[in-house]
Amino acid sequence: MSRTPYVGGNWKMNLHGDEALALAQSLASVTAMSGPADVVICPAFMYLSSVGDVLAKAGSLIKLGAQDFYAQPNGAFTGEVSLSMLRDVGVSVVLVGHSERRHVLGEPDTLINEKTLAALEADMEVILCVGETLEQRKAGKTDAINWGQTGYGLAGVTADQMTRVTIAYEPVWAIGTGMTATPGDAQNAHQAIRAFVQFGLFNESIAQSMRIMYGGSAKPANAGDLIAQPDVDGFLVGGASLVSDDFAAIVAATQEN
Ligand code: 13P
Repeated sequence: MSRTPYVGGNWKMNLHGDEALALAQSLASVTAMSGPADVVICPAFMYLSSVGDVLAKAGSLIKLGAQDFYAQPNGAFTGEVSLSMLRDVGVSVVLVGHSERRHVLGEPDTLINEKTLAALEADMEVILCVGETLEQRKAGKTDAINWGQTGYGLAGVTADQMTRVTIAYEPVWAIGTGMTATPGDAQNAHQAIRAFVQFGLFNESIAQSMRIMYGGSAKPANAGDLIAQPDVDGFLVGGASLVSDDFAAIVAATQEN
């Protein structure tokens, strides 16, 4: 089964107004696609609207994604942003369960599941992030952690909704560290996640059509070897997504595969 490559840029809490707009402008012009690919960029909340305007004016196919949201539709949730507010400014993709939200902000699996269900209910696309810490990897728990986070995250999701779900395997120890999973390690983890979705949650057809991105110090120099793995379908990129030529080169690597 051939799956359309998917590349996401997670800008995290980086770039102020003009920098965000300049990067969006540049990405719209340099992220030329020689073949089919889905591309999404996720700026900070403040700049979603203006980055969306830049992409729309440039006629870019790059989608607008949000790094977070709250699962409730409205109400007394000081500081939070709802899915319909995101929809208002053109967001169609949301990240859920990013390791920084799990480990720095303390989001539990129950909240991650609530967010996944709410986003799918709101017709958003979901990129559900999973991945083990270094201690967990050393203890031989990589697959168990990925299965647990995938299973909790997707509890209650219907087969129909799975067409709008992408998993991002982001080993915590590789995020922002310059340490990248080897192509073999990434393949093993992706294959195990796909098998779990097939045998533990849904069926072969859903598992085979579901895309699994790799995230964790992805860059132009390693993207080619990683995307060559049969179960690696794209990238969720942090640091390298802040440099338009690097991000474009990662997208290009998925096209050459
Ligand atoms: P880096 O590419 O900076 O390691 O970040 C990966 C990531 O967390 C993307 O969501």
